[in-house]
Amino acid sequence: MSELIRFGVSLEKELLTRFDRHIRRERYPSRSEAIEDLIRKELIQKDWIEGKDVAGVVSFVFNHHKRDLVSHLTDIQHGFHALIVSSQHIHLDHDNCMEIVTARGSSKKIKKLSEMIRSHKGVKDCHVTLTTTSRQPAED
Ligand code: NI
Repeated sequence: MSELIRFGVSLEKELLTRFDRHIRRERYPSRSEAIEDLIRKELIQKDWIEGKDVAGVVSFVFNHHKRDLVSHLTDIQHGFHALIVSSQHIHLDHDNCMEIVTARGSSKKIKKLSEMIRSHKGVKDCHVTLTTTSRQPAED
């Protein structure tokens, strides 16, 4: 086993409460093991998908009362029109909308699209899920 390094992490209280609930549900023995698992999953997916043509879904939530935000998010998507296959808009409640954008092409471009959306102030949550039909590396 390689050397263990201890480091501090600051999180919003509410997020940590939710994370602790997740830890209990998934029966992780400790926060450290749960965080280690998240890091591994993230790095493995990145390694696996690097440089390949993939299909991906970018989903995000935003406040639709912020008109500038709505139009900026649309502008960003038009900048990636060749990549985007479809987009779906869901009115979640009085204030919030969710968009689900399906894209197909280079993983780098899909990541770029998700980064541009995520970095926009007012976007509450942005996730990207990438998938590929290439064979997964064999588990050993
Ligand atoms: Ni809406």
